Amino acid sequence: MILVLLGPPGVGKGTQASRISLHYGIPHISTGAMFRDAVARGTEFGRRIQRYRIDKGEYVPDDVVIEAVRQRIHEPDCATGFLLDGFPRTIPQAETLNRFLAEEKLRLNAVLNLAAPIDDIVKRFSGRRVCPVDNATYHIEYNPPLQPGLCDECGAQLEQRPDDDPVIVKRRLDVYNEKTAPLVDYYETSGLLRTVDASREPETVFGQIVALLEGWQWHI
Ligand code: AP5
Ligand code: MG
Repeated sequence: MILVLLGPPGVGKGTQASRISLHYGIPHISTGAMFRDAVARGTEFGRRIQRYRIDKGEYVPDDVVIEAVRQRIHEPDCATGFLLDGFPRTIPQAETLNRFLAEEKLRLNAVLNLAAPIDDIVKRFSGRRVCPVDNATYHIEYNPPLQPGLCDECGAQLEQRPDDDPVIVKRRLDVYNEKTAPLVDYYETSGLLRTVDASREPETVFGQIVALLEGWQWHI
């Protein structure tokens, strides 16, 4: 099964992606997480990514993102499918994904568009805390860790993402509206888009996603 998760920053793509990945046994590929990890590890790729100022909400150029995704989806764990979170994010990225899949005789099964009111999204940003070690994501109110400020999985001190600063959030939302929102129409036209009400609590949102995927008229 090959899935794309679409939706504005902070809507809950990563939260749902973890559940979908576990439920269907497919790898969760988040381009944002790949970039943050490379920057944190200080690799050559990470130093290159740093120049594009993702910490300020700017997009990485299409050719760089595309090459990173191309390499990742050729890894063995992607042989039975994968879940893309945060890619494609522009029309050229979507067109390249189509080409990749056609070359491999693969097919995109569904694009899940997570949608929620902007006020909900802003609250999700302000309370988000992430684990710098294993990327686990929490929310101080909606999904708190068992011990305040500490990761349930590894005990590391939770942090705020630098791009969750309110000024940068505004920029990210603007960039999303300009460059990524057009993908909703793009995938609507291709008949692959299903919109999910992401304003509900995480388990309810996940239930909607599973119901959508199970009810879909295609072979998983
Ligand atoms: P990326 O990491 O993909 O960030 P994003 O799209 O901005 O989305 P977020 O990760 O901020 O939010 P999310 O939707 O995953 O929400 P989450 O589940 O964490 O990309 C980062 C940057 O990398 C980009 O800005 C760009 O610069 C660059 N980049 C990445 N891909 C690129 C590409 N393809 N091309 C160019 N540049 C690229 O949830 C948010 C919070 O809400 C959490 O605290 C969570 O606990 C809480 N929450 C989640 N769901 C619910 C719910 N249902 N109810 C209540 N709280 C909830
Ligand atoms: Mg995310």
